[in-house]
Amino acid sequence: MTTPSAAPVTPERIMQFAWGYVPPLVLEAAIRHRVFDVLDSGPKTVSEIHKETHASERGLTAILHALVGLNFLAKDDRGAFSLTAESAAFLVSTKPGYQGGVIRHCSEQLIPKFLRLNEIVATGKPVEAVNQEADGSAFFHEFVNDIFPMSYPAAQTLARHLDSNARARVLDLAAGSGVWGIALAQSSEQVRVTAVDWPEVLSVTRKTVARFQLTGQFSFIEGDLLQADFGKDHTVATLGHILHSEGRERSRALLAKTFHALAPGGTIAIAEFLVAPDRTGPPLSLLFAVNMLVNTDDGDTYSFAEIGGWLTEAGFIDARTLDSPGPSPLILATKPRLDR
Ligand SMILES: C[S@@+](CC[C@H](N)C(=O)[O-])C[C@H]1O[C@@H](n2cnc3c(N)ncnc32)[C@H](O)[C@@H]1O
Repeated sequence: MTTPSAAPVTPERIMQFAWGYVPPLVLEAAIRHRVFDVLDSGPKTVSEIHKETHASERGLTAILHALVGLNFLAKDDRGAFSLTAESAAFLVSTKPGYQGGVIRHCSEQLIPKFLRLNEIVATGKPVEAVNQEADGSAFFHEFVNDIFPMSYPAAQTLARHLDSNARARVLDLAAGSGVWGIALAQSSEQVRVTAVDWPEVLSVTRKTVARFQLTGQFSFIEGDLLQADFGKDHTVATLGHILHSEGRERSRALLAKTFHALAPGGTIAIAEFLVAPDRTGPPLSLLFAVNMLVNTDDGDTYSFAEIGGWLTEAGFIDARTLDSPGPSPLILATKPRLDR
């Protein structure tokens, strides 16, 4: 009897990962030197890109070819470089789907902390914790607008999913840029949003809301999530990418507090990087858990079942997922009506 021959084991993947820190840094250099923006008007040679960006021809030659190898650019017979469909949609700073904001922080805000990972794994403690106001305010002040494009399509999906009663009074918790409240407020002039975050970050929220000309629909509550007074009778509460930095105990307390701030029949909507129940995937959510190890005291990523259990414990019913663009589906649940 013959056994099917297994594919030979090679060190190829390990060699690729040995250089895995390079692609985001190449992307950052290209973004900071406006390479994708300059190519948006059409294909260009190295010297043409040099004339517009003033970056060195040697430096540009190296990163342009690396970006061709990574399929973020194409190169034609006369040596001109052009955008691919992906880089045209997501790496040109004037495009609505621009994702380059996060990449711009790699060398100064993201990678430096990961360089301490050996030490952090030994102690189980972050070097700086972004879930604490002192470090977190400054970090998120820089960061929240750059992650706006990650959640805007999902926030628009939520706005389309909820009927006009369900999205009338929004409680946008850990509002950041205000992306969740903004998408809901755009769906109707009747929508009113209460945005909660640390004071320094709310100054960014206010500016972003003003840029969307929605200031008249917003009010703002400054403070820590477990201390601030959320008010009452909100019809929907959004928790966009906050549970992962709060950790299990604070997340459970936050869900219980949110339950009390909602009107009967109200909806809670949670955006997270969800993991499979046995924590074997998906890779992005597992890597994000390492990011929480590096950046927070107690943060992690969770499964739908785990968050669903906390929602039930807080009094919510009908925990469910809503397919939406983004790393994972949204989690929704309902506060029961009094007459049930
Ligand atoms: C990852 S950002 C998410 C922002 C926005 N909800 C989104 O989905 O893009 C986390 C936000 O939570 C805020 N935040 C974190 N911990 C907080 C706390 N304990 N109290 C108040 N705000 C907090 C940060 O300032 C930041 O704006």
